[in-house]
Amino acid sequence: MTNFYFSYKTFIFYCAFLIPIIICGIHFFTFRSKRQHFKSALRTVVRFNLKERIFHFIRSLSFILVVVSGLFFVSNQESIAASILHGINGWVFVLISFATIYIWIKDAIFYDYDKQWLRHMGNYFNKEHTPLPSGKFNAGQKIFFWLTSLLSIFFMITGILLIRAQGEQYYWFEIVLTFHGIAAALTVSLIIGHIYLSLMANPGTFHVLFDGKVSKEWALYHHPNWKTDVKKNKHR
Ligand code: HEM
Repeated sequence: MTNFYFSYKTFIFYCAFLIPIIICGIHFFTFRSKRQHFKSALRTVVRFNLKERIFHFIRSLSFILVVVSGLFFVSNQESIAASILHGINGWVFVLISFATIYIWIKDAIFYDYDKQWLRHMGNYFNKEHTPLPSGKFNAGQKIFFWLTSLLSIFFMITGILLIRAQGEQYYWFEIVLTFHGIAAALTVSLIIGHIYLSLMANPGTFHVLFDGKVSKEWALYHHPNWKTDVKKNKHR
């Protein structure tokens, strides 16, 4: 596995970028026009407060910087600037991921109604317009939350091991590096899917990153159980 990774790592990362872009492109041209549009509706419901938006912004920016600097290593280019950028942003990414886990963990707990969303695969692959049960986050977003949280913890552990191994000849160094790299490629693919789903596949979602608000129509359609969950104190 280690040999395979070191021989094909450039190819692996090309695939990590290209495969999700192709899949999202196919989905966009096949299903996008069939999804509900909420572009013009008045946005009055607060979906993300300032803290949530700042955390998400820092997490996104540090992720982009960590990937860009990581690509220098993938292409075997020696760069001190890239090493420093990777080290600093790696830590920023891990720490902000912990902060994000803390503020969103309650919203990412699975409930019985999530099974229905999963059975219909969020209506992403049919022409159905009936809203599916979903709290503040739908079942797909909850899975994404847990995956990215676990991957962040994994990057922290493997990152610490790689720093420890610098300048030494540990037998496990290449194994850890292989897992670190494969997890990074997987995360890149996940984030491309996430960007597509939140910006392109669900019209009317994009603004939430800036003012934190969505329209009542958007909230009722995408997250019909959110209001009841808040009342029952399942969510904030
Ligand atoms: C780099 C560009 C990114 C963009 C444009 C973006 C966009 C968005 C948007 C629009 C939402 C709100 C979705 C909603 O209201 O339902 C969101 C939520 C979220 N984002 Fe991002 N995001 C980015 C990067 C990231 C990264 C790097 C991570 C984690 C590693 C991340 C993790 C999350 C999580 C956990 C949520 C809440 C659940 C979800 O919507 O899936 N995002 N993002």
